[in-house]
Order: sequence, then C-alpha cells, then structure tokens
Amino acid sequence: MKSEWVRAHTNIALIKYWGKENEELIIPMNNSLSLTLDAFYTETKVTFDENLKTDEFYLDDMIQDLAELEKVKTVLNIVRGKAGIKARAKVESHNHVPTAAGLASSASGLAALAGAASLAAGLDLSERELSKLARRGSGSASRSIYGGFAEWQKGTNDDTSYAVPIDDANWDIGMLFIVVNDKKKEVSSREGMLRTVKTSPFYQGWLNTLDADLSAIKDAIDQQDLHAVGAIAERNALKMHATTLGANPPFTYWSPDSMKAMDAVRDLREKGYSVHFTMDAGPNVKLICKQSQLAEIKSHLLKDFSESQLIEAKPGPGLHVVSKLSN
Ligand code: DP6
Repeated sequence: MKSEWVRAHTNIALIKYWGKENEELIIPMNNSLSLTLDAFYTETKVTFDENLKTDEFYLDDMIQDLAELEKVKTVLNIVRGKAGIKARAKVESHNHVPTAAGLASSASGLAALAGAASLAAGLDLSERELSKLARRGSGSASRSIYGGFAEWQKGTNDDTSYAVPIDDANWDIGMLFIVVNDKKKEVSSREGMLRTVKTSPFYQGWLNTLDADLSAIKDAIDQQDLHAVGAIAERNALKMHATTLGANPPFTYWSPDSMKAMDAVRDLREKGYSVHFTMDAGPNVKLICKQSQLAEIKSHLLKDFSESQLIEAKPGPGLHVVSKLSN
C-alpha cells in the first residue's frame, strides 16, 4: 500500500452545475464545464491502518468533526469496497488558499482524496474512474481530476457520470479573484441547489438554456475566443444566481461588495478590456480575462479593492502525486 501526497487543484465552473437528479450518487441535472486553476489546491495523504477504530480526518493539522468527515467517508467507503479492505483510514489534508477568505473548495479537496485514497488502497484507477470516485464526494470534484478545461458529462447512472478533458487551456486566459468578505451565514451549495430544484419556478428556465450555452462555450474554447468564453460564462452565472431568488425561502449569494465587483468589471469592459465575471455559492467574484493582462487589470481594481482581496490565477494541472508537501 502506497501512502503518498496527492495534489488536486480547484476548478471554477464557467457553465455551472446546479442541481442533482440523484442526491445519493450525485448525478447532476446538467453537464457543466470548468477551468482548473493553479492558485488553489489541496494536498492529501491517506493511510489505512488496522489499529484505527474510526476514520480520522485532519485538515491543516486540525481534526475535523463528523459533518466534515461525512463526504470523506463516502469516498473512503467506496475505495474500501473496491479494494476489499476493512481498515479505517487517517486522512491528512492541507489546503493551499492564498488568504483565509472562504475560498476553500470541496472540488480540490475531494479530488485529492479520491487520488490519495485509491493509491493507498493499491487501486490503479484510470482518470475516468477517479473522476467518478471524486464525484461521489462532491460533484464539482469530478472536474478537478483534469487540468485546463473539463466537462462533467451528467450521464444517467453511477457509471456514466464523469468529467472529460476538453482543452489544456494553454492559451491567453486567466482568472482574477475578488475576495469579498461577508459575515452572512452561507447557504451551502448542496443545500442551495436542492432548495432551488425543489422550489424555484425559474429552475426549468435555467435548464432549458444549458445545451445552447454549453455548445457555444465549447466552440469559443476551440477558437480560443476569450471574449466569447467570458460572455457566455457571465450570462450562465447570472442565470444560475437568478434561480435562487425564486426559491422558497428565497436566498442570494450576492453581497453589496459582489455588486461593486460586478460594476468594476463593467467599467473595465468600457475601458476596452475583455473581462467578464462568474460567481459560485458565495459572494466572491471571479474575473475571466487575458492571462497577459492580469497584472494590468489588478492595478485598475486596486482603487476599489485591497491588494489582499485580489488573487491572480492561471490554468492549472490535473491530479498528480507530489514527492513532498509544498510550503
Ligand atoms: C455553484 O460540487 O460543492 O460551485 O456536489 O453537493 O458537493 P455537491 O456540490 P458542489 O457544488 C458546486 C456548485 C457551484 C457550481 C459548480 O462548481 O459547477
């Protein structure tokens, strides 16, 4: 059995996953498409140990409670079943997020876990199998197996729902995170999407437009057309966020600072930059722009936001083993 550190980078969806057809298996309602980023990642090591009485999960050297352990256990149990082992596991994880600003992502965490747990159990899984395994922990993690652009194809069952690589993103595209601190209690993505599917009259409208968005963005990626990629992603994100306003009870992930960030993006567009935004289940705003203009765009944003709120990201790699932990 090989206990090694495995690294997975987070990904940001340009076409969002929002809603499950099957809660237990995490089969989504729609295909989604993302870009994996270099700036944020998780490194994880799993050790199966006959002497342990229960699974243990340490995140940044702190033992995690049962709620955190739940997603981890789902993945460990599948791995134990596949490998025919009974031993409990110690899971050690380190999140590499430039600021402590709520950007920690289940995508990188559960993808790294899928890689580390299967390695420790002696399973030699293909990327496709790893994507399915990561998906069972958290849907968006299925896409973090791959670097660059990846599409999670929803499929119809456990075996047919996985991500595939689309393009290595080895062209002039980057992302700039505007970290918005927000004291409001968050609705988790898991709870938010469930409530929206169940209660929002806008949900069907959102679903109806997805095939068109997906095929348009794939064409734009093929043509390395940054402006079109950004414009489609921004529209897609706004539609997703619109569904939450129709939910019962209604909710939004936007804060006043999110809107300030959106306005700043529109201003930059008026200045002639190709820049668009996307948002996930929180108030942070992520800009899609030319990698070669990241520094220039950041300098414009410094009039409205502080240096520590602005984080540059480039396309990142897929899941891989690392010889030692990074600092
Ligand atoms: C808004 O993958 O965190 O970021 O499958 O319930 O663990 P679970 O949800 P999660 O949802 C991510 C939602 C999103 C959009 C996206 O990443 O596609």
